[in-house]
Amino acid sequence: MEFKDPASYTDLSQGKIQHIDFHISVDFSSRTFDIKARYQLQEPMHGSLFLDSFKIELKEANTNGRKLEWEFDPEDEILGQRLHLKGFEGDSTFTLKFRTSPEARALQWLDESQTVGGKHPFLFSQCQAIHARSIFPCQDSPSVRFTYSAEVEVPQELVAAMAAEQIEVQEGKQTTFLFKMPQPIPSYLFALGVGNLAFRELGPRTGIYAEPQTIEAAAWEFAENETKIVEAEKLLGPYLWGRYDLLVLPPSFPYGGMENPRLTFLTPTAILGTRGQTSLISHELAHAWTGNLVTNATWQDFWLNEGWTTYAETRITEVLEGTDSKDLHLAFNEKELIKIMERVGMNSPQTCLKLPDEKDVDSFATSIPYYKGCFFLQECEYAVGRERFDDFIQKYMASFQFQSLTTEAFLDFLKAELPEVFEKVDVHKWIYEPGLIEERHKPKSYLFDEVQQTLRDYEKGVKPTKEQIQNWHRYQVLSFLQGLPKKISVEDCQYFDDILELKKRNDIAFFSFFYVICIASGYQEILPRVEQFMANIGRMLYVLPIVRAMIGTDWSRGYIHPLFERVRDRHHQITVKAIEGLLKKAEL
Ligand code: BES
Ligand code: ZN
Repeated sequence: MEFKDPASYTDLSQGKIQHIDFHISVDFSSRTFDIKARYQLQEPMHGSLFLDSFKIELKEANTNGRKLEWEFDPEDEILGQRLHLKGFEGDSTFTLKFRTSPEARALQWLDESQTVGGKHPFLFSQCQAIHARSIFPCQDSPSVRFTYSAEVEVPQELVAAMAAEQIEVQEGKQTTFLFKMPQPIPSYLFALGVGNLAFRELGPRTGIYAEPQTIEAAAWEFAENETKIVEAEKLLGPYLWGRYDLLVLPPSFPYGGMENPRLTFLTPTAILGTRGQTSLISHELAHAWTGNLVTNATWQDFWLNEGWTTYAETRITEVLEGTDSKDLHLAFNEKELIKIMERVGMNSPQTCLKLPDEKDVDSFATSIPYYKGCFFLQECEYAVGRERFDDFIQKYMASFQFQSLTTEAFLDFLKAELPEVFEKVDVHKWIYEPGLIEERHKPKSYLFDEVQQTLRDYEKGVKPTKEQIQNWHRYQVLSFLQGLPKKISVEDCQYFDDILELKKRNDIAFFSFFYVICIASGYQEILPRVEQFMANIGRMLYVLPIVRAMIGTDWSRGYIHPLFERVRDRHHQITVKAIEGLLKKAEL
């Protein structure tokens, strides 16, 4: 079968990029990179090579002392422009010189005021899913892996951190950081951050980068990372990437975390002062195996990355926090899954694990592949027992390491290794049919049940007291907010605001869940807090539900557009695009 990635112009019959040597000069004043990149191909090439690109200004293309002809196709709003390099005559290397656009989708350039320190600018990249092409022309499909080296020149006082091994730092008029990435990665895992960064060791293989003002708190929050790797290795096999560091980004980062190899990018809102966001790190760390080592071949197979990672995350949570905590997470996840499926429609193709062909993969992504994928893998585990499933996990990782695979290749492997799964689990239905199968093991959690009882009492008119909920687990509070009716009285909004002590907390998950209820309930006093949230927080998981709530409620609908215009410049282009998409759909 001919392989096709609908989100990329890559034509695998032409050959594959194997290695890239980058020289990147970072210019904060023009918000561009000047790049010289030498590409090495797997095999000598004849004729043409198609690459993905987005707003790249190409200046030169050479191969073995000859000039290469090139042509850009008309721009597709989502996919960018296909770059057609012509005239290969058995060459296996070529060099491009180009400049990125200030509108490069993968890059967010922040001015001083958007950092904690307030004195230096900051830059970070976010390539997943299809934004690497806005930094360098490439075969921007997760089915292609390459190694790389990079020399990154930045203003003297700043530090560059890459999802790669740091080899050397050369001081001069500019500072040049040398990196190498000896393990082959797909383009979406290329990552770079530049800012006034301090570094702290956490353990023998672990460390953290953050602005000097937050490094102390950050180092404390994630002090247990080394222990996590040890646990993850027991489940998934040896950690093959060398170091595992974190880079704490400014709050406009559109995700909670991004599993860039060797260097997870992290939202600063994960620093709660409680070490309470452990599952976020477990998730990003697990991606070092499920995603980075064994990678989805296309974004239609996204569940292979996120479903497997969510499964591994819950297993790590079980070891580190105990089964009560794990069961609570799972019960919360199940309810979330059902809520999201109801929002997109139980019969929507978006609820299938194997997603339909779609080029706009970012706006198509939901949490469904995370949770449904996790529940499917749990079902497989139940079918054969934990011991056999754990052997299977290790064999899966070892067999496909540094490879990208489709859902179908995964199912072939599952069938060969664990045929009984197919007798006990309706695999086809789980993968290819929409909705959620009724016959499955449902999560059971007494901590979750306690919250459900409180919610039932509330519906009968008995409100919980502050004392009753004071010692609740973080996920119990979230489950409570998740389970409240969509609309409650304004008095009750005030009451919950008070007993949950939301004004004192700094947990954006609580804020997001709560503000959504307040908006739908007509609690208009919440608006300044919503605006403050929208001006400061970029994590889409929590921002987009607020936008949806404002669009979906009569009183707030008129406020959302002007509010968005006021905060727009503070957001990453990925977030801006997502919000614009919601406004457009609502004809606002
Ligand atoms: N790899 C994802 C982030 C991502 C997904 C970026 C799709 C671009 C496209 C990352 O591992 C992730 O899932 N982050 C979650 C947190 C996680 C604990 C569920 C997030 O950012 O909310
Ligand atoms: Zn993930």
